[in-house]
Amino acid sequence: MEKPFPFGTPLSPSATKVMFLGSGELGKECIIALQRLGVETIAVDRYANAPGHQVAHRAHVINMADPDALRALIALEKPHLIVPEIEAIATEALLDIERQGIACVIPTARAVNLTMNREGIRRLAAETLGVPTSPYRFASSLEELRAAIDGGIGYPCIVKPVMSSSGKGQSKVDSAEAVESAWKYAAAGSRVNQGRVIVEGFVAFDYEITQLTVRALGHDGTPETYFCEPIGHIQVHGDYVESWQPQAMSASTKQRARDIARTVTDNLGGLGIFGVELFVRGDEVLFSEVSPRPHDTGMVTLCSQYQNEFELHVRAILGLPVDVSLRSPGASAVIYGQLEEKGIAFVGVEEALWVPQSDVRLFGKPESFMNRRMGVALATGRDTTVARERAKLVASSITPVRTRSKGQPR
Ligand SMILES: Nc1ncnc2c1ncn2[C@@H]1O[C@H](COP(=O)(O)OP(=O)(O)OP(=O)(O)O)[C@@H](O)[C@H]1O
Ligand SMILES: [Mg+2]
Repeated sequence: MEKPFPFGTPLSPSATKVMFLGSGELGKECIIALQRLGVETIAVDRYANAPGHQVAHRAHVINMADPDALRALIALEKPHLIVPEIEAIATEALLDIERQGIACVIPTARAVNLTMNREGIRRLAAETLGVPTSPYRFASSLEELRAAIDGGIGYPCIVKPVMSSSGKGQSKVDSAEAVESAWKYAAAGSRVNQGRVIVEGFVAFDYEITQLTVRALGHDGTPETYFCEPIGHIQVHGDYVESWQPQAMSASTKQRARDIARTVTDNLGGLGIFGVELFVRGDEVLFSEVSPRPHDTGMVTLCSQYQNEFELHVRAILGLPVDVSLRSPGASAVIYGQLEEKGIAFVGVEEALWVPQSDVRLFGKPESFMNRRMGVALATGRDTTVARERAKLVASSITPVRTRSKGQPR
């Protein structure tokens, strides 16, 4: 369905309808961008009052890993486009839906299916496309894991469930004694308990980046590839805490990163934005993984680009032109829940926003967990050093607090 849409009237028979599978902070920003274009939005998540639910025309709560529940909801809502925002979806149902022409899956059902499993995307990138990656093996038992490490991966290495995200079930293994606990930790952190892991050689990279890559229609109506400026980031326990744009890179590594991103996204196809995760070590650039959707580290583009990653995704999937240019060096810093509590409040927002060129997003998640991402601080500056200092200052000035029953901060 790679042609421009007519723009109908929401909540009328002419509406252009877009359904989000997963409605967290990334979906919420996409939905806001679609609302501005008069597109009818349907937000789906596994819990009520998810961030995207709060800004969409309609909200649904279903188990998205259940293919029958997914098919039934799609039959009810009849969206033109289906936009997966998370990986934990019954992707086999999406393959059928695309095949039967019921709706267009963004960017393609195959891309969504391949990238939900580390094995699918890693084998495609390294073995089919010949893209450089860390050394890796797959294992389905503790014995196979030991054999993979002894047979060439060596120490240190990283063990990850093939189906997981945000660092869940992932651990670094420095010696033979730690293999068993890494195996058990991976089994516990796996989204689908299939007991399969990837073990990767540990890459002592100089820095890592997200190369946001947009496939959007060019003037002649065929897909073209556009590259945002590289985003640098810091991950703690596999979860992002800070990001900035642009990451300084040599001309050759920047080009290598773009070449890899193009190779992978050309193969995945369709329209939309991709977050291509890469490690840079000296002149070498290694592919790590790719999300066929906006990337959490790309939240920095809310302040650093003329069109942020959510607007870019929305424009691309609707067949509209995109502009990926940088507006200003910028940075983001995550605001964590720091509490296990429902209906928390945030204090210090007013003081935080006295920081020059700063902004904040509070996602409105109904329940806080210690390490749950509840908001993000944003800032621009004359360079990324200044922007990072500002964003971190904003994040650290905002404190989650418990509330009394009437919603008043204690
Ligand atoms: N082979 C490796 N060598 C060194 N560091 C690694 C390796 N693999 C992963 N990491 C580190 O762990 C982080 C998370 O890994 P990865 O992206 O594979 O997991 P994830 O669970 O999909 O995380 P997310 O969903 O946040 O992207 C990486 O961004 C990187 O900092
Ligand atoms: Mg990752």
